[in-house]
Amino acid sequence: MTSPAITRRGFIRTATGGMIGGTLLYAFPEGSRARYILADEEPVPGDDEHFWNVVRGQFPLRTEPVFLNNGTIGPSPFVVIDAVTAELESVDRDARYGGWEDVRPKIARFVHADPEEISITHNVTDGINVVACGLPLKNGDEVIMTDQEHAGNAVPWLARARRDGIVIRVISPGWTAAETLERINDAINSRTRVIAVPHITCTTGQVLPAREISTLGHDKGLWVMIDAAHTPGMLPLDVHAIGCDFLTTCGHKWMLGPKGTGFLYIRKDVIGELEPYWVGAGVDTGWDLRAGTITYRDDAHRFDFATQSSALYVGLGAAIDFLYNIGMENVSRRGQALAGRLRGGLRELGERVEILTPDEPGGYGSVVAFRPKNIAFDTLQQSLLNEHRFVTRQVPENGMNCNRISTHIYNVPAEVDRFLEAVRRLV
Ligand SMILES: Cc1ncc(COP(=O)(O)O)c(C=O)c1O
Repeated sequence: MTSPAITRRGFIRTATGGMIGGTLLYAFPEGSRARYILADEEPVPGDDEHFWNVVRGQFPLRTEPVFLNNGTIGPSPFVVIDAVTAELESVDRDARYGGWEDVRPKIARFVHADPEEISITHNVTDGINVVACGLPLKNGDEVIMTDQEHAGNAVPWLARARRDGIVIRVISPGWTAAETLERINDAINSRTRVIAVPHITCTTGQVLPAREISTLGHDKGLWVMIDAAHTPGMLPLDVHAIGCDFLTTCGHKWMLGPKGTGFLYIRKDVIGELEPYWVGAGVDTGWDLRAGTITYRDDAHRFDFATQSSALYVGLGAAIDFLYNIGMENVSRRGQALAGRLRGGLRELGERVEILTPDEPGGYGSVVAFRPKNIAFDTLQQSLLNEHRFVTRQVPENGMNCNRISTHIYNVPAEVDRFLEAVRRLV
């Protein structure tokens, strides 16, 4: 039965289960706090506070301190938490095995991949290890990376360099997409084999031109791996349109899914080029210990194996439904509206802060980073937390010494305004 408790031009409805407009809704237990929100594919403005306040109400997230650090971890809405707990209980009630597999097609659809191209992982770094360990690289082969990497991308490639003598060539992203492309192009030489860069940097939230990087890499005969830790759930993501060979991400940041979920996209044509190193039940189509043979599956499932948590992956499926029902275009519009408000307010502080996230269209999403002039970045972060009750992330990586603010759909403009006032006082 549906209960259209809130109806606004037909966009928003809350439901206790059943069908609305042909969309199947989960039936939530009696008294559940979870509600589905439907935008019915209709555009919702980034500043439609009525709609976004309903969205805010779907999260148990406390309001104090204000959470402005989704780039580290994305708090789940009730609907995800309820899906996880219900599945946990159901598994144990029935002593049931399996279930995590079922989410593969849904993940694939969310990022416009084929299910055969999706490997289920547990975080971003898992996927990076599959690629960094599995590519056939030898001493002297070069990998192009940026000076804005998260440890999760840097460390697996450094380990490969230590083991096999590959060389990591580091570039700094430019302020514009064109500059970044030019720098990558300039770094390519006859020994280059791989470009392994973030789509959205963890340091400043800069969005790199993943599609053009992939085209450039392929024109030069290279493998292209995109660390998309921050993309799905922040921006609509179409891996086939990007055209990269590998893209790795997690469910626990912008997708607002359970912590410890992730997936790796491997373009169909290159699955056979990656040697699986970390393997087990499920990766093969047959093995024989006496004959000493194993035949791997020819899809991306050859890289995930053994027993997993169905509860976490059912929860990830619920997170995908939640985002679908709001609409990824609407989600990213909201993120950009909040980021724009934040950037505008920081600009008004003039010389006292240096904004480090580019403002070129397409060059940013829901994250803004800035470096304060009159106070140390780590002191600022601590004061924001202790005196003003805002959770932010300091960015010491690569000597950036800045502060990163990431807002998501549970944040509201009043929080951004209060945050700006706090920064104004501190800088
Ligand atoms: C760009 C980037 N890559 C990789 C990671 C590592 O993510 P995980 O802990 O899910 O492996 C992060 C985490 O913040 C990140 O920001």
